[in-house]
Amino acid sequence: MEQTYIMIKPDGVQRGLVGEIIGRFERRGFILKGMKLLTVDKSLAEKHYADLSTKPFFQKLVNYIVSGPVVAMVWEGKNVVTTGRKLIGATNPCESAPGTIRGDFAIDMGRNVIHGSDAVESAKKEIALWFPEGIAEWQSCIRSWVY
Ligand code: PPS
Repeated sequence: MEQTYIMIKPDGVQRGLVGEIIGRFERRGFILKGMKLLTVDKSLAEKHYADLSTKPFFQKLVNYIVSGPVVAMVWEGKNVVTTGRKLIGATNPCESAPGTIRGDFAIDMGRNVIHGSDAVESAKKEIALWFPEGIAEWQSCIRSWVY
């Protein structure tokens, strides 16, 4: 079953949006497979955003992610990478549709509340980076109504 890495960024945690965001993924039918609240060190933030290291906003992005605790999560379900990105909304909150997480709760690119993996391959890499200890296994028989 497909999995994705979702991270509630420091502004989302500080603004009390954790429950709201988890609820949206749960109500859509996805399964929470791993979750932890952690303060990120610079090296982990730089590894996570390594592909963006040449971008002019890279340092600003790293400083934002290390500025307070984040909630790191693994979500599972059919097409969860693409559908998760749809729940999140466009990267720039000015372009995020109302009804999406960013469209409902953000206005600035540098404070856009949440991260979601952009492809199945990057999800695998991000889950390995953020959950090196692994995640708990669930029995599939206890979620027969989830699609
Ligand atoms: S790019 O330039 O197209 O590769 O970037 P994009 O895919 O749109 O975004 C990748 C992540 O970089 C963040 N980002 C920014 N942060 C701060 N300031 C500026 N100007 C900025 N531009 C992009 C953006 O939120 C993405 O972060 P994640 O955590 O993946 O959503």
